[in-house]
Amino acid sequence: MAEVDGQVVGVVRLEEHEQFFFLTSLGVLPEHEKKGVASALLHFVLQERAKPVYLYTIIPDFFRRFGFQETAPVTGLPAKKIYGCDRCYPGQCVVMVKR
Ligand SMILES: CC(C)(COP(=O)(O)OP(=O)(O)OC[C@H]1O[C@@H](n2cnc3c(N)ncnc32)[C@H](O)[C@@H]1OP(=O)(O)O)[C@@H](O)C(=O)NCCC(=O)NCCS
Repeated sequence: MAEVDGQVVGVVRLEEHEQFFFLTSLGVLPEHEKKGVASALLHFVLQERAKPVYLYTIIPDFFRRFGFQETAPVTGLPAKKIYGCDRCYPGQCVVMVKR
């Protein structure tokens, strides 16, 4: 979680699986967007990971900035869950990985 003056303004979740990490639930309160909150959260959770990090997203351009690239789904990836996303657009959802 990212906090400003004691208020949670952003969250991200990183699950550890046997072969990889799975990143989900990245979100920042609208009034705190574009201040680097998501970037700070990502830099924190992505440091020194010994296994690849996978995610689902509808905004691949945002994650490319952090070294993610589009890839095919791998066996064992968690199922897509509606609560992991702000909105669900299956046609726009891609799998990305940072190795
Ligand atoms: C996407 C989100 C997490 C970005 O959070 P943020 O704290 O505003 O991000 P930062 O301030 O760290 O970075 C902002 C940069 O990302 C860029 N960015 C934001 N949304 C983007 C998008 N959809 N596609 C490409 N770039 C994007 C901004 O243009 C900005 O670039 P700049 O630094 O060159 O000005 C936030 O807008 C959000 O919570 N969105 C709704 C939930 C969501 O879409 N989550 C991800 C779903 S997989």
